[in-house]
Amino acid sequence: MAQSLQSFHTFSLASQCSQLIEITDLAQLQQLTFASPFCILGEGSNTVFLSTYQGTVIKMATRGVNTTERQDDYLLEVAAGENWHQLVRDSLAQGMPGLENLALIPGTAGAAPVQNIGAYGVELAKYIEYVEYLDIATKQIKRLNKQQCLFGYRDSIFKQQLKNKAVITTVALALPKQWQPELSYGPLQQLDTVTPQSVFEQVVTTRNSKLPDPYVLANAGSFFKNPIITNQQLHTLLQAHPQLPHYVYDEQHHKVAAGWLIEQAGLKGHRIAGIEVHQQQALVLVNHGNSNGDDLIAMITYIQQQIWQRYQIELHHEVRLMAVTDECHITLEDR
Ligand code: EPU
Repeated sequence: MAQSLQSFHTFSLASQCSQLIEITDLAQLQQLTFASPFCILGEGSNTVFLSTYQGTVIKMATRGVNTTERQDDYLLEVAAGENWHQLVRDSLAQGMPGLENLALIPGTAGAAPVQNIGAYGVELAKYIEYVEYLDIATKQIKRLNKQQCLFGYRDSIFKQQLKNKAVITTVALALPKQWQPELSYGPLQQLDTVTPQSVFEQVVTTRNSKLPDPYVLANAGSFFKNPIITNQQLHTLLQAHPQLPHYVYDEQHHKVAAGWLIEQAGLKGHRIAGIEVHQQQALVLVNHGNSNGDDLIAMITYIQQQIWQRYQIELHHEVRLMAVTDECHITLEDR
């Protein structure tokens, strides 16, 4: 029986799947047959269903947070279906700071390690103790420590070797009792009083000023990753574009701000059907409605082409795009 997915993903395109199963306990997950194709979903804030997905959507909705006080930190073992922002808020309210820079990121705790969510100078990986997942082949629950998760910028083993092989069930975070604020990001440097609560509030204010609430105006957060380019390429680009925001990535590479590139290319407010490059943050695409997957692909393609022509940089979308039977990647080579 076809099931509408419009309200199951925040970009909210009219779309459907063959079947949707909501998982509320682990025994239920272990009994699933995982007939192909299937797709694991949290709150759908980083996934766009382009049209009809001819498969089963498995929505993780398990709940529960188990907190253990240890000598130097608190261990939070969080069920995959917990809402991320609620976890940030509750841990802060209970005197366990650390996650405040990651406030207001939409989605679930279980989805957070997949793309190693990050904002305002902090990535989730910093606080990961372990991640547990159901190994789909053996139906066993397995555990990976932080190193084994192979975290990178918006990347992890769950997007690579374990793609379609694992369902994250628990995310364990270690929050040190000795709080060390991370204030490197611009708006946080202006704080008069630095407390976990003031950092939290500044992050919330900053996000609210730039990023549209997905439940008010459909969107999926940053649509593209910030590109990582060689130092040589950066050097050349800076000669033509001295204002280009850039950050050290590793010894040979810098990360550059895709939002800036898109804005400077004159694309803010560019619209295809109801899809628009957001006016406050050009890295975000919003969906005003009356749009379909083809409109979105046309928009992605147009932005990629413009950015390539102007800067010789290829943008990769960060959002997971689900086509008829599998995830798809729109790249410049496709054309
Ligand atoms: N910028 C512009 N014009 C724009 C957008 C950005 O000039 O339209 C400039 C900003 O002025 C700033 C720089 O680009 O100098 C970076 O912008 P911003 O701080 O808004 O962050 P971002 O690099 O665009 C990343 C993450 C966000 C995260 C913010 C804050 C990615 C793909 N995105 O965005 O994460 O909230 O940093 O740390 O890495 C997400 O992943 O969905 C997401 C929202």
